[in-house]
Amino acid sequence: MSFPQHRPRRLRTTTAMRRLVAEHRLAPAELILPVFIREGLSEPAPISSMPGVVQHTTQSLVAAAREAVELGLGGIMLFGIPAVRDAAGTASLDPEGVLNAAIASVRAAVGNELVVMSDLCLDEFTDHGHCGILDANGAVDNDATLAIYARMGVAQARAGAHVVAPSGMMDGQVGVIRQALDAAGFTDVAVLAYAAKYASAFYGPFREAVDSQLQGDRRTYQMDAGNRREALHEVELDLAEGADIVMVKPAMSYLDILADVAAMSPVPVAAYQISGEYAMIEAAAANGWINRRAAIEESVLSIKRAGATMILTYWAAELAGWLRSN
Ligand code: PBG
Repeated sequence: MSFPQHRPRRLRTTTAMRRLVAEHRLAPAELILPVFIREGLSEPAPISSMPGVVQHTTQSLVAAAREAVELGLGGIMLFGIPAVRDAAGTASLDPEGVLNAAIASVRAAVGNELVVMSDLCLDEFTDHGHCGILDANGAVDNDATLAIYARMGVAQARAGAHVVAPSGMMDGQVGVIRQALDAAGFTDVAVLAYAAKYASAFYGPFREAVDSQLQGDRRTYQMDAGNRREALHEVELDLAEGADIVMVKPAMSYLDILADVAAMSPVPVAAYQISGEYAMIEAAAANGWINRRAAIEESVLSIKRAGATMILTYWAAELAGWLRSN
């Protein structure tokens, strides 16, 4: 037998050959753009820890949604930042509240050309910044929070969301939201469950983006970074409760979890490339330490390769523009 036995380098000789044998490639339709809308802004406001990302006004948000349609993006995920917060996050239920009004504006602009998704969580709406309401001891009260999530889901569906995305990691959240949606006649509104969401230091810039009031951490409801098996249990529970799509979050530090979930999930799997992942690459690129475009493309492709059906990334629009001009 001659040596070497085989020469894999043959399939790497030209750009055309590499393109032909690529096992994974990205498409705009699998990218979801997360966006922030802030009540009371007159101009879009930059987020310093996320260069290039802004808190939108209604007008700039609608423009971004229209651009997403033009670019062929798969979806848009809306986060709202209310002007007034309280202990129970009541602005989340108000049809005129910042998030519900934004869902309605975006739906009116894009119709069914883009999948309109909304974050279903209380942390932007509570004055203490937790994802749920607190009991007398200051602990997050799971079941009292579920009752509010159910109402939030209906409010978001009524505003026009195609998909609601519970991100608070309360036990049983998918089931109560599904039941409430069905009871209100929204049987076609899908639930994208943040199934395996880890307590991560990489959420840092997001907390600036939503002007978070959180003191302390979310370790009593978000998952511990050391746990792998538990992610599958969380996914199984969400599936049993009726999740239409399951998510792993963050993405890059959790690619093993994403691969595990992709291997067992009968429903589509989303992955969220979060604010800190974005900020790290932007910061290194701004220093001239890495090639920005190449690093962005490689990072998102790695999430696809690990098994994501769809990817939330703050680069969705820019990346889609590159993909279209390739
Ligand atoms: C909670 C929520 C968070 C993110 C999305 N939804 C933050 C948190 O759990 O503290 C983070 C997204 C990001 O960092 O880009 N509603």
